[in-house]
Amino acid sequence: MIGIGVIGYGYWGPNLVRNFMQVPEANVVAVSDMRPDRLAVIHRQYPSIITTANCREVIHHPQVDAVVIATPVTTHYELAEMALRAGKHVLVEKPLTATSVQGLSLIEESLRRNRVLMVDHTFVYTGAVRKSQELVANNGLGDIYYYDSVRVNLGLFQHDVNVIWDLAVHDLAIMDYVLPLRPQAVSATGMSHIPGKPENIAYLTLFFDGNLIAHIHVNWLAPVKIRRTLIGGSQRMVVYDDLEPSEKVKIYDKGITVSNGPETLYRMLIDYRTGDMWAPQLDITEALKVEAQHFVQCIETGRQPITAGEAGLRVVRILEAASLSMAERGQLVEINPGRLAA
Ligand SMILES: NC(=O)c1ccc[n+]([C@@H]2O[C@H](COP(=O)([O-])OP(=O)(O)OC[C@H]3O[C@@H](n4cnc5c(N)ncnc54)[C@H](O)[C@@H]3O)[C@@H](O)[C@H]2O)c1
Repeated sequence: MIGIGVIGYGYWGPNLVRNFMQVPEANVVAVSDMRPDRLAVIHRQYPSIITTANCREVIHHPQVDAVVIATPVTTHYELAEMALRAGKHVLVEKPLTATSVQGLSLIEESLRRNRVLMVDHTFVYTGAVRKSQELVANNGLGDIYYYDSVRVNLGLFQHDVNVIWDLAVHDLAIMDYVLPLRPQAVSATGMSHIPGKPENIAYLTLFFDGNLIAHIHVNWLAPVKIRRTLIGGSQRMVVYDDLEPSEKVKIYDKGITVSNGPETLYRMLIDYRTGDMWAPQLDITEALKVEAQHFVQCIETGRQPITAGEAGLRVVRILEAASLSMAERGQLVEINPGRLAA
């Protein structure tokens, strides 16, 4: 039985506690939050869980084997480092850390102590994203030409991070899992419409080796909610709409074929190919449940998590490069591949 301690019981923490409570091989031992009102809520919901305002009590509790961190981004590094040093396995909320130096340091600490370090890239554990990854990995789309994602709504304005560190992190995490290639450079633009607050709208263009291109559009100030990703390949194209109640993933057997015209070698002919569209069956288990189970299994077996610290670091490196680019109004910034970026 793996004892779980959770730090942070604000908006997201309750989802983590609820899902870890459903994992038969796990037991949520203790939860910490600095706010007494949040501790009162957890005490009402789960009277058997120990509650404390002092996160150190969770980290050092002898029955806690693994610490789950659901606090604001700026606190991730300090808390995760403290937990690893106490010999605990760690699951950190996205994004892994506020800087890549911190991310690298956590990975090194987890390797030194032989502990699991995992980041909550939640969407990677959805049936829709796992199916998209399977399609790409099995060459079901042909050569990948583009990845195009929109994630907008009238969202919660975060105070400590801008919209790319809050929302684009989801798209970058999905892209990191689904695409076989890593982006080389990024150009980002964004704007704040509230004085003194971080950017609430942003556009990221990511360049890869070859002719693959990606674009991510995120916005906290949109009147409608859109969560749509297109992945275009030479053979087929995928539309993943997370707001569809069923049929979230649709595969279009559409594309173009390019050939030379008969009369002259210099005249290209572009033919449009329109075939069937189908929606594959998806696993509808809640992503966080799949993820909580995966974290516990990795601890038990020593297996490397799908969203290990390295995946978190790759995403943080892109976020850092995008932040630099945004400060320079879209100037192209190379993404540090890093020695742990494989
Ligand atoms: N995976 C997802 O889809 C998803 C969704 C939302 C938020 N998140 C992530 O979850 C994290 C938390 O976000 P949130 O929206 O729940 O924030 P929140 O502000 O609602 O909650 C954070 C809680 O942490 C507590 N806290 C902060 N420092 C603490 C400490 N040292 N000890 C004990 N408690 C402490 C605060 O009192 C607060 O209640 C962020 O990293 C965010 O990016 C992830």
